[in-house]
Amino acid sequence: AESREALRQRAKALLQARNAVLVAHYYVDGDLQDLALETGGIVADSLEMARFGRDHAAQTLVVAGVRFMGESAKILSPHKTVLMPDLDATCSLDLGCPPDDFARFCDEHPDRQVVVYANTSAAVKARADWMVTSSCALGIVEHLKAQGQKLIWAPDRHLGRYIQEQTGADMLLWHGACIVHDEFKATELELLKEQYPDAQVLVHPESPAGVVALADVVGSTSQMLQAVVHGTAQRYIVATDNLIMHRMRQLAPGKVLIEAPTAGNSATCKSCAHCPWMAMNALQGVVDCLEHQQGEIHVEAATGSQAVRCIQRMLDFVA
Ligand code: 13P
Ligand code: SF4
Repeated sequence: AESREALRQRAKALLQARNAVLVAHYYVDGDLQDLALETGGIVADSLEMARFGRDHAAQTLVVAGVRFMGESAKILSPHKTVLMPDLDATCSLDLGCPPDDFARFCDEHPDRQVVVYANTSAAVKARADWMVTSSCALGIVEHLKAQGQKLIWAPDRHLGRYIQEQTGADMLLWHGACIVHDEFKATELELLKEQYPDAQVLVHPESPAGVVALADVVGSTSQMLQAVVHGTAQRYIVATDNLIMHRMRQLAPGKVLIEAPTAGNSATCKSCAHCPWMAMNALQGVVDCLEHQQGEIHVEAATGSQAVRCIQRMLDFVA
């Protein structure tokens, strides 16, 4: 097989030759994160990925992440070519919110504004009034509550409950979960905190309530990264996909990073602290999609023009 370095060089040359830019999430392989940064792309959270892809001049976007990220990029830039290293990279939140069931649920509650998380299909977004990501959900729901709106929230129940607690908004919650964050354990985290009382605890809000309750910082992947970079503590316990530590180590080399506890380990638990779908992204996939124009994201035009409204509303709100 081709060496990692040879693949990296090939991917780099192809990105340049095809006038393409690599847009990567913090949970993908470290080689892909490094390649994105080295070639003028970005490593980011899902909100920043969407914005970057939309604003970049390149005609081809290679999105290293999961399917909804590629779809959002395509919806925002229908005239660009959006490629993904592996089109089968999905997300348990997306899978747990089938568009037809969701549309029925919305139809049953016509008096409610529909707020959906980025981690959903284009068809679900087409049914929504607002899209949010973990970095801006709180602000947007506060805004809607101030307007006296009642809400439908889908699909992540943990994030929904957290936002509901923080804002006091009237929210009907869909019952989805992220299989990665759902595995973090509060009791074990409490014990770890006792062992390292000086550590700051950073938690992604897709985690269960008991875990969020132990956090010093609750936020999106970028917000967690910033907390490590700017934090005064030496030690951080991190409750999210462990590949985020790749970027944390680069930007905060002196700090000690500890993975938050899950019930299992990699032998017993396929989704403990690393997303199996994010793991499908590899250098070989970047090379293949650029070389053979495969892995292209298509979003039906009618769905896309409907879905773009809720994404645009979010982007205008955070602008
Ligand atoms: P962020 O928006 O924080 O990057 O989260 C997206 C995601 O899929 C987390 O699992
Ligand atoms: Fe979906 Fe969870 Fe994977 Fe993020 S980590 S893509 S929310 S399954």
